[in-house]
Amino acid sequence: MRVGVFDSGIGGLTVLKNLYMHYPNNEYVYFGDTLNLPYGNKTKEELEKLSTKDIEFLLDKKVDIIIVACGTVSSNCIEYLKSKYQIPIYDIISPTIKYLNNSNYNNIGIIATNKTIDSHIFKNNLNKSIYEIKTPDFVPIIENNRYSELDYTIDSYLKEYKDKIDLLVLGCTHYPIIKDNLNKYFNNKIELLDMSYPLLEKLTDDNISSIKIYYSKLNETIINNTKKILDIDNLSIEEKE
Ligand code: DGL
Repeated sequence: MRVGVFDSGIGGLTVLKNLYMHYPNNEYVYFGDTLNLPYGNKTKEELEKLSTKDIEFLLDKKVDIIIVACGTVSSNCIEYLKSKYQIPIYDIISPTIKYLNNSNYNNIGIIATNKTIDSHIFKNNLNKSIYEIKTPDFVPIIENNRYSELDYTIDSYLKEYKDKIDLLVLGCTHYPIIKDNLNKYFNNKIELLDMSYPLLEKLTDDNISSIKIYYSKLNETIINNTKKILDIDNLSIEEKE
């Protein structure tokens, strides 16, 4: 099966990596819209336009299904995209909501982009105590390797919630990249949920293995970050023509 995966940048690679680790025998085509990053502060209309272009690019690559590896697009545009295309489209958030509703976690923090939090998708669909936390600076820190700012930023966003939650949802696909820093901050005492795990049940294995990565804008930093996150040999990384 040819699986198309997209995000605004390198964040969706955390989803791709997890899919590949569990189902290596598929043809994966990844698209990161680095030219238009970040998505987290855009309007719904802008997000609909950009995600349509992302999907059109993947359809040109003849994918059979699409994984929206972006929390911001998943929380704001999924109905729009599903009504527009016949091809199966899976969002990153609804498997997590299903998983949490069947879990025993009751005090749940959600960290995500402004636009995901403003959609209230978690609060509206979970019957639990939910703390919605906007964390817009994480994506620019991660995309631009500004890691000296990270610990301070984590503390400023999370100190208020530290003692209130028993699980923290990484509600943006960039955030598993900073999982170690978050675990350190919580002294490993709080469960961190990477949304790509509940998504895994949507896929199966096939019989051809390949990964092709495309970005709308490519530079050395993006190439190095891609190699570091995926840690897979002989990657094909190209700028979208
Ligand atoms: N990785 C994204 C998400 O899951 C996009 C973040 C952004 O571009 O602001 O929301």
